Amino acid sequence: MSFVPAGVLLRAAQSGGYAVGAFNFNNLEILQAIVRAAEAEKAPVILQATPGAIRYAGLDYLAALARAAAKNAAVPLALHLDHGTDPGLVEECVRAGFSSVMIDGSKLPLEKNIALTRQVLEVARRAGVSVEAELGRISGTEDEITVAEREALFTDPEEARFFVEQTGVDSLAVAVGTAHGVYRGEPRLDLERLSKIRELVPVPLVLHGSSGVPDDAIREAIARGVQKINIDTDIRLAFLGAVRQALTEKPGEIDPRKILSPAREAAVEVVRKKIRLFGSAGKAG
Ligand code: G3H
Ligand code: ZN
Repeated sequence: MSFVPAGVLLRAAQSGGYAVGAFNFNNLEILQAIVRAAEAEKAPVILQATPGAIRYAGLDYLAALARAAAKNAAVPLALHLDHGTDPGLVEECVRAGFSSVMIDGSKLPLEKNIALTRQVLEVARRAGVSVEAELGRISGTEDEITVAEREALFTDPEEARFFVEQTGVDSLAVAVGTAHGVYRGEPRLDLERLSKIRELVPVPLVLHGSSGVPDDAIREAIARGVQKINIDTDIRLAFLGAVRQALTEKPGEIDPRKILSPAREAAVEVVRKKIRLFGSAGKAG
């Protein structure tokens, strides 16, 4: 199976009333965990890598690992660039076989964000690759993108409508109260704002910073029209928690596989739970 553009998966989710999980990976074990979980739940998933993940592992390695996963996968997979900011990297990812890219111009003034998104769309359209853009600022840290929480700016619904009309982008990431990384308190989503954006914007909506958001809030966000839900931190926490436990229980262990296998299993369990929460279990057909 080859990669499916994320836009195709998200439009199916939009008509089906569920959300597709977009899970970050930067190594073999986490990638395998995501794909195993998707197969166990018979769910479509989006595999995503940030520029930081690409710097860590190398674009060729990440693309080759994901291709190996897709070759035998029993479920539809998209390969997506997460939080791309550089059109040059977008082009490299398209050449490397990514089926979807995000161009994150959310730090730019509106007109510049529109221009950057259009520039990327031109490249992506030629290759049949779908494009996600971002409007409004999501606080916290996703690799090198850091926005102080007080600076965080929620998405303006009218501006979102204008942005999508002007760009023709395939999906839109919105800022409605989520943050990247670990939350200090309980996150409170601006669900009214989300509904308003949904009314005005026809394309699938994306929720970033979804780790640590209570299940009920996630369900409500899906009911109000979110179709892509990004998860990174919850996988990292489960993976490293299992690594710490294995190292404590087996201080003399010298085989990394004995430490990383339980970590991979822990990641599978997290991803399976998320898939069920998002309503995408059984939607692989
Ligand atoms: O782009 C990736 C996600 O927005 C990650 O969010 O830190 O809540 O897992 P997270
Ligand atoms: Zn994000």
